[in-house]
Amino acid sequence: MPPARLLYGKPVAEAVLGEVRAGVTALREKGVVPSLATILVGDDDASAGYIRIKQRQAAELGIRSPHTHIAAAGTQEQLSEAILAYNADPGVHGILIQYPVPGHLDYDAALSLVDPGKDVDGMHPVNLGRLAIGLPGPLPCTPAGIERLLAFHGVPVAGRDVVILGRGATLGRPLALLLAQKRPTANAAVTVVHSGVPDWARHTRRADILIAAAGVPGIIQPEHVKPGAVVIGGGVRYEGRRLLPDVDERCAEVASAITPRVGGVGPTTVAMLFHNVITAAERS
Ligand SMILES: NC(=O)c1ccc[n+]([C@@H]2O[C@H](COP(=O)([O-])OP(=O)(O)OC[C@H]3O[C@@H](n4cnc5c(N)ncnc54)[C@H](OP(=O)(O)O)[C@@H]3O)[C@@H](O)[C@H]2O)c1
Repeated sequence: MPPARLLYGKPVAEAVLGEVRAGVTALREKGVVPSLATILVGDDDASAGYIRIKQRQAAELGIRSPHTHIAAAGTQEQLSEAILAYNADPGVHGILIQYPVPGHLDYDAALSLVDPGKDVDGMHPVNLGRLAIGLPGPLPCTPAGIERLLAFHGVPVAGRDVVILGRGATLGRPLALLLAQKRPTANAAVTVVHSGVPDWARHTRRADILIAAAGVPGIIQPEHVKPGAVVIGGGVRYEGRRLLPDVDERCAEVASAITPRVGGVGPTTVAMLFHNVITAAERS
């Protein structure tokens, strides 16, 4: 087999960010400055770093990024107040609560309080419901990024067998809904496997497109991949700063195309977040 083509996320993200820049310009011409508000609870270094990266990128794109920092011992009421204040502010188009929040706080309750129109993560129950019934709304960033990645790299999806390993709320489940939708870049025969399917390899071995969404390092081995299939690594686990992907690197010897170990799905996720901010600002 010739070596697998690498499906890089950076050019996909650049294409999406090009659309974001055009959207920012059009909004500013109408006197609207798009704005993404961020809320961080606690002092976790990694979380603070992710917020800084998003703020820096927002500034580069011409998007305002007001920020609220709540101390680690902050209460659910303080978190709710911050969310409600941003909900009520017409100058704020998107709200991002940095995940995770300290253990004494209820992230899901906080997310449910966000105005669904400002939910740029696309994870509010109302927006996941809209996705389930095919109504327009903000899409969860990582699944939407994977659909864009496949389309950008010319991987046909419509009519093909897509198998997703993992049914988690952030990735596998919404991705299955998305890729089964009736659109040219989706329209696939989607199968979702998980820990309740002990012989899941029986399914992955017939996949034209295999998407790992488990968060179990090395769970996808070459013997789980059909020769010539396309393999997308969405699931990752961090050990300190080390990124451990679901997909073993040796799968590149069997696949026809595969996301690289680093720089595959990740960059597309952040780009889709800003895409959702612009769409929210346009709708507001
Ligand atoms: N690249 C990115 O930008 C990005 C963004 C978001 C998330 N992610 C990653 O995506 C992954 C999934 O996220 P999530 O929140 O959806 O995760 P999650 O809720 O933990 O779901 C993991 C799924 O994998 C399945 N699974 C775990 N171990 C398995 C095994 N040994 N055999 C079969 N199935 C197994 C679980 O099955 P059960 O349902 O039966 O327990 C579950 O459905 C995580 O690694 C996360 O870090 C990446």
